[in-house]
Amino acid sequence: MSQLLKKDIKIEHNFKVCILGVGFVGLTLAIALAKRNIPVIGLDINLELIQSLNKGETHVIEPNIEEFLQETLQSGKLSFRHSSEDLSMLKSCNTFILTVGTPLSGSEISLGSITNALDQIIEYISEDDLVILRSTTSVGTANEVVRPILNKKSKSISLAMCPERTIEGNAMQEIFHLPQIIGADDEISLTKATSLFELLGTEIVKLSSLKSAELAKLVNNTYRDLMFGFANEIAAFCQKIKIPASEVIHAANYNYPRSNISLPGPSGGPCLEKDPWILVQSGKQYDVELSITKSARQVNENSVLNLLDPYFVSELSEKVLLLGLSFKGTPEILDARGSFAKNVIDFIRYRNPLAEITGYEPAGIFKYDFIDIVQSRSIQEAISGADKILILTNSLKFVDLEELINKLADRNCLVIDYWQVAKPALLSKEMRYLSWS
Ligand SMILES: NC(=O)c1ccc[n+]([C@@H]2O[C@H](COP(=O)([O-])OP(=O)(O)OC[C@H]3O[C@@H](n4cnc5c(N)ncnc54)[C@H](O)[C@@H]3O)[C@@H](O)[C@H]2O)c1
Repeated sequence: MSQLLKKDIKIEHNFKVCILGVGFVGLTLAIALAKRNIPVIGLDINLELIQSLNKGETHVIEPNIEEFLQETLQSGKLSFRHSSEDLSMLKSCNTFILTVGTPLSGSEISLGSITNALDQIIEYISEDDLVILRSTTSVGTANEVVRPILNKKSKSISLAMCPERTIEGNAMQEIFHLPQIIGADDEISLTKATSLFELLGTEIVKLSSLKSAELAKLVNNTYRDLMFGFANEIAAFCQKIKIPASEVIHAANYNYPRSNISLPGPSGGPCLEKDPWILVQSGKQYDVELSITKSARQVNENSVLNLLDPYFVSELSEKVLLLGLSFKGTPEILDARGSFAKNVIDFIRYRNPLAEITGYEPAGIFKYDFIDIVQSRSIQEAISGADKILILTNSLKFVDLEELINKLADRNCLVIDYWQVAKPALLSKEMRYLSWS
């Protein structure tokens, strides 16, 4: 990348990109950049994943993703490599983007994949190259973990934090439209990273430091979690005093410009279940207690299970059906990371080991998750003979459920509906209906 430094830093657009970790975030970015004619090599430690991506197949459910993948593979702009292959071609790359996973270990972030990925490619990074951190990290990771590894090679490697904020299920659309946050501690890094993301056509939000960008990402997801936490707390209170939370929340919001309270419901997913904890941990590192963040997450983790509490008190031979196994129903995804269904399964197993648990996910069958429960292939098969039905997501495919439940479920079936998907008035009189809101 040639540069004119001093006041106006100009970067010529000859980006050659290596993306480390081509899971959801890495893959969508790799395709988006390749669609803008930027050569991209996607690198991953998962051999099966690399083999299927090279065949133009992906397990990620996103509108148009497979078509875009095949198009960019055929154009020659995108290719994938497994980490055990000869990686010498990475020497021709001038931009390295880290999109590896950063899961929690207990309630603390695990940065092992970031350091491993960097160790693996450091020999191919040259002096004036750009390294972009795109994984979600605790505040200070770029300076304290990534920078020292890069400095061993050269202090003039540029470093920027450009967090991913797209929503699963609509990422291939959002990636070309959402403003891209870019943080860096120096002007050259900021300018280089800006030049790259400008090629996606997005508005750029430039931040004055790596830390600001790390924190902005955490703030986005934690804010959502706080909103759900508040709604869930109100719902738990309403449950106790036997009034409908939906009525209260609707009244509070209706034509009132200063309220936009969300409906209560299970709040999870790979980001919401961990990012608030990463924010809490980040605060602790700087002696700041983030008590609202922590409480909201705890409310979200506990209160929704509390709804089930009175209905799983004795050991019974019963068929319990979970409708919706992904971590959300809309937009449609086949992703079990952070799925509330997993907590529900653990809870039911603990309370009633005799229960036969069946699941149905309208987006498809999980190959690796939920293999310890029966996964039904059709909604009819799933509902047949169910004693308890727990509606865990708001999938748009859950239509006219009442008719199917009346016809196929046990006549005394209990329906626990977290999203008000079913209409209780349409259920047979013998059935019991319970809604979270
Ligand atoms: N999923 C989302 O909606 C989302 C949104 C915004 C940000 N994020 C953040 O982005 C990051 C990635 O998330 P994801 O959902 O894509 O995770 P993912 O688990 O789908 O993908 C991570 C990939 O990294 C690979 N990997 C791990 N170690 C590696 C190494 N040393 N070298 C090369 N590849 C390696 C894994 O095999 C995996 O394919 C996380 O920090 C996450 O918090 C996720």
